[in-house]
Amino acid sequence: MKGRILKALRECSDCISGETLSEQLGISRVSIWKHIRGLKEDGYVIEASPRGYRLVFSPDSLPPYEFPDLEGRIHYFRQIGSTMDAARELAKKGAPEGTIVIAEAQTRGRGRLSRQWLSPEGGIYFTLVLRPKISPAYAPRINLMASVAVAASIRKLFGLKAELKWPNDVLIEGKKVCGILAEMDAEMDVINFVNVGIGVNANTSVAQFQKTATSLKDILGKEISRKEFLRALLTEIERRETLLMESALLDEWKKLSATLHKNVRIVSLGEEVIGQAVDIDATGALIVKGTDGSLRTVLVGDCIHSKRV
Ligand code: BTN
Repeated sequence: MKGRILKALRECSDCISGETLSEQLGISRVSIWKHIRGLKEDGYVIEASPRGYRLVFSPDSLPPYEFPDLEGRIHYFRQIGSTMDAARELAKKGAPEGTIVIAEAQTRGRGRLSRQWLSPEGGIYFTLVLRPKISPAYAPRINLMASVAVAASIRKLFGLKAELKWPNDVLIEGKKVCGILAEMDAEMDVINFVNVGIGVNANTSVAQFQKTATSLKDILGKEISRKEFLRALLTEIERRETLLMESALLDEWKKLSATLHKNVRIVSLGEEVIGQAVDIDATGALIVKGTDGSLRTVLVGDCIHSKRV
């Protein structure tokens, strides 16, 4: 109902009376008043005058009612340990495909390879529960799909040249703006669920000494609408979910890739692979050509770019 009230407030040119709202939405004026009070508690500024209610300010928060089409699928937290943990619990209990856990801030946000993911307010942190009907061997394609969707959203909304670093970082001007962490629950031949956690440095400021990271705010010199960005990103992901096993997905990743054709050093399972990144295979693994011309298929690892060759 809060979402419907916001929509009515946003659509009216000036004020809308409690009576009109109550008629339009089919609830009592007292209920309207209670929901308006709830919205005010959530940070919306709504003026009440004898002529009615007027929306003066919307905070840039991400409550479920700001995503009316997805509202029933969203679990929202102002602060949480990690959206990955909440999503895992939900998925284990049978939460359907498309369940989304969103947090305004995380106290134990985590990244790949057991790293910490700093998650102060202003960033975008969410985990999406997916139940793809593909072989577990192809699960890394989900990372590719998510990173392509993030880069596409950044390019569309802000016109910035977002690029991808294998396996699933999104870079702008060579600095990381978004990280993706996927956790899978599977048997040998069937995936129960894959939870895709996405962290975007949106309206956070990255410390000067952090040479390898950036934020959308730092690059654009102003804050973005996180709501608008998240809406766009979820649409981009949804569009690609059906393309998971299509070659078009790999083509899109290759076009956006900052890794291909670069000299790379990859620390993979305690071993170092050095060479030129020449391709990715159908499972999303990186093909690296060593100095002796031999080809190595790298499934996991931390990739460091050196100069283009
Ligand atoms: C990485 O680059 O190492 C991956 C970072 C993934 C961070 C996101 S934020 C939402 C979700 N919750 C977490 O604790 N981690 C992921």
